[in-house]
Formats: sequence, C-alpha cells, structure tokens
Amino acid sequence: MNNNNIKRYERREFIKVLSVAAASCTSTCLYACSESTNSPVTLTGKKIEVRLEDNPTLLTVGGSVRKTFSEVNNGRPVLIVRTSQTSFRTMTMICTHQGSTINNPTNNVNKVICPNHGAQFSIADGNFGKNIGGQSTADLQTFETTFNPTNSTIIIEF
Ligand code: FES
Repeated sequence: MNNNNIKRYERREFIKVLSVAAASCTSTCLYACSESTNSPVTLTGKKIEVRLEDNPTLLTVGGSVRKTFSEVNNGRPVLIVRTSQTSFRTMTMICTHQGSTINNPTNNVNKVICPNHGAQFSIADGNFGKNIGGQSTADLQTFETTFNPTNSTIIIEF
C-alpha cells in the first residue's frame, strides 16, 4: 500500500462519517421540530372509539382522561372530559404557545395549565379549550366528540 492509497482511504472514510453525521443531525432536527410544534393538526376525519368501561374516570360528570393515540394528533396526548351526562369534549394537550405538553386538570378546577409559561385553558363545556389566563396564546384545538349511550362509547373524530 503506497501513500496515495492511504490518503484515498482516509478521504473516503471521512466522507462516509460526515454523511452519517449529517443524516443523524437532520433526523434529530426533524424529530425535535415535529415534537415541539404548536400548530393545529390537519383534520383527517379518522374516528377513534373509546369505551367508557375502559376509562372509569369518564363515568362521572366532570371526569377526564388523558389519552394518546399514535395515529392522530401527531401521536401526542388529548384530554377527554365528560361535561354532562350525555356530552363529552376532546382537546389537544399541546400548548399553542410553544408546544409543551399541558398538565392534567386537578380536582374541581375547570382548567388545565401549561407547565412551561403558565397558559391556562378552560375545560368547561361552554368555553372548552379557550385560553383563559396566564400566558396569552391561541385556543387549543378541539375534536368533535359524540356519545353513543347504547353501547357507552364515545367517538372522537380527528
Ligand atoms: S409553552 Fe405553554 S405557555 Fe408557553
């Protein structure tokens, strides 16, 4: 092996390593960007059924549950709230300010709060998803939710 072969090999290896590093940086950036998005998701019409018997907190008015469905809302969580005997509402848990995941509601409080800068959003039926205090930002995205009392399921349309 002469010196020319050694140089060529080193250059080839260097380009190979550089390519792998560039691909890794690009995929990391794309993942991070998609994780931190605070934009509403595009509605696709996909329907997801949730059984009340699998979610006991939804059996009482005012109860809620956080759910994540990999195929909708960019795989990020939503909050389902029972707002009356016959109605349920669903909203994203992704803050419209900078994309942080919002905390679950605490007992007897009709709002949720983003841990990052304190944006507050209503979970009351008439005001569901509205920015009501703390950091001023856009309202949360909500998803059509219908209740089927016959089989005690709700259908959420994303
Ligand atoms: S990211 Fe939620 S208030 Fe800033």
